[in-house]
Amino acid sequence: MSTFDRRIRIAPSILAADFADFGRECEAIEEQGADWVHVDVMDGHFVPNLTFGPQLCTAIRPHIRGVMDVHLMIAPVDSYIDAFAAAGADILTAHLEAGPHIHRTLQAIRGAGMRPGLALNPGTPVEAAAPLLDMIELVCVMTVNPGFGGQKFIASQVDQVRRLRALIGDRPVHIEIDGGVIPETAPLVAAAGADVLVAGSAVFNGGSVADPAPYGNNIRAIRAAAEAAVPRRREEAHA
Ligand code: DX5
Ligand code: ZN
Repeated sequence: MSTFDRRIRIAPSILAADFADFGRECEAIEEQGADWVHVDVMDGHFVPNLTFGPQLCTAIRPHIRGVMDVHLMIAPVDSYIDAFAAAGADILTAHLEAGPHIHRTLQAIRGAGMRPGLALNPGTPVEAAAPLLDMIELVCVMTVNPGFGGQKFIASQVDQVRRLRALIGDRPVHIEIDGGVIPETAPLVAAAGADVLVAGSAVFNGGSVADPAPYGNNIRAIRAAAEAAVPRRREEAHA
């Protein structure tokens, strides 16, 4: 794993991919410039939608060269941690709202050999993450209510990102933004301190495994818009 830095990373969510062709979709987005592959696991209970679980992660792992970033929207979490470790997840992110023992859950994720992430719903103050910042590698700030792709960005979350960035200080903790990221919203969160941008519909829109060039154009458009909002970080990235 490379050393920590805050250059802008784009993490396409395969929730917007062709569900009949996940392996080739993962290869296509990486070839088109994706930094991480974001995998949205939903249980139809914590969120009102069902997607896929550790078996899908196992199946796509050989098709991902870089980071598999798994976002659990499930409750409970703990009984599935070992299965996601075995499936090859690099980052495993659990929601603070998923149960009463998030500290234990994050410890268990680290104990299973993965990088722990903490996700926060829009209704949760980011200050709730404060006691956990020394045990995690990422905070995922939801900028939609989790459950579905293609929703509208919740603009009031930008101030939460700004407060979270101040809380994190110089800790090596990424701020990931999830939901409604498009070239128009990416600069708002980047300027507020976010460095990892999840995007589903805005990456996959207009492309396919047979014609993946639009994926690359979409990734570059989001990245350019975000980097333009943080010129100093852009210079560092090219240094
Ligand atoms: C929402 C998921 C997101 C979603 C993002 O519950 O966690 O990762 O796929 O999709 P877009 O970018 O379309 O809002
Ligand atoms: Zn997600």
